[in-house]
Amino acid sequence: MLDRYGRNITYLRLSVTELCNLRCRYCMPEDGVCKKPHEDMLTEEEIVLAVETAAELGVNKLRITGGEPLVKKNIVSICERSAAVPGIREVCVTTNGVLLPTLAKPLREAGVRRLNISLDTLDAEKYRYITRLGSLDDALRGIETALDADYEKIKLNAVLVGGFNDDEIAPLAELTRRWPVDLRFIELMPMLDSPAFGPEAFIPCERVLQTLPELKREEDDGGVAKLYRLPGAQGRIGLISPLSSHFCRECNRIRLTADGKLKPCLHGKAEFPIKGLDRDAMREQFRAAMLAKPEWHGELSFSSHSQAGRGMNTIGG
Ligand code: GTP
Ligand code: 5AD
Ligand code: SF4
Repeated sequence: MLDRYGRNITYLRLSVTELCNLRCRYCMPEDGVCKKPHEDMLTEEEIVLAVETAAELGVNKLRITGGEPLVKKNIVSICERSAAVPGIREVCVTTNGVLLPTLAKPLREAGVRRLNISLDTLDAEKYRYITRLGSLDDALRGIETALDADYEKIKLNAVLVGGFNDDEIAPLAELTRRWPVDLRFIELMPMLDSPAFGPEAFIPCERVLQTLPELKREEDDGGVAKLYRLPGAQGRIGLISPLSSHFCRECNRIRLTADGKLKPCLHGKAEFPIKGLDRDAMREQFRAAMLAKPEWHGELSFSSHSQAGRGMNTIGG
């Protein structure tokens, strides 16, 4: 379906849980999330109904996110049932990778075609610092299991944080020579009211181009990243620049949170509840949310944080 600005909304980002087994500093506050009552969250049946409704309105791509989607007990079933919905061409998952050693194969068999996996650093101590409780070994083992599980595409996500991993741009980029993966550098988005980082943390993706002048521009693939390649590398380098060069004009996305709120924009306040609605009422809410997509998300910077009113873990990125 087209929105008011002529953008065709074909991509649903579906958050299946707010919970996570990590506590990344840019994503959630230290004490994690206060667990909402079970009855406030979408059931598996409601999730499948929402996917069917979205598909009827022209959505053909689904990305399952969290929190951490792999901590959800029925994640394999949700993926399998979503992949079987007529009109859904592609089910993808964004994960921190820690549970992939056990779940990469079952998810692939359930019909998940592509994975995006977070990896902000290759240093074990820094990994522990940024995730507050994760282990780099677990994440690397997850990536390696996924590489063996025959996915159509694997992308690694590194959030660029000045003073934390800007000295690792080259080694992270080198992963595209070692593995057939794309590595995307993402500009840090100011989500939380009390910022976890000072102004020096917000560095533009331009820094990657300055550090790696050998990068060659490649054709974009319709996603949010501008694509490049290191000479001879198997995978590409992507730059995701919501702060320095927003991509709202091409935004084809709508979001559904785990507590059943449709979000027309990642950084907007507007939410359209669908919990408990029947198919017809749900379709009307989807339409309303698509028509409510703003032209752009407004100013984002260290001093001008997101208007989302939620941490990233309760939206799903
Ligand atoms: P594909 O294009 O399907 O690979 O997905 P993706 O790159 O959008 O998904 P992923 O979940 O890996 O997100 C990568 C980064 O892009 C995260 O930091 C997201 O928060 C960010 N992102 C995704 N969609 C949007 C969007 O619509 N607006 C903004 N500003 N950021 C987004
Ligand atoms: N800014 C940029 N990216 C973020 N992510 C989570 N929080 C932020 C933020 N504040 C990324 C994660 C994951 C994806 C879903 O979103 O690293 O790769
Ligand atoms: Fe968990 Fe992902 Fe947020 Fe990290 S970014 S705390 S892995 S939801």
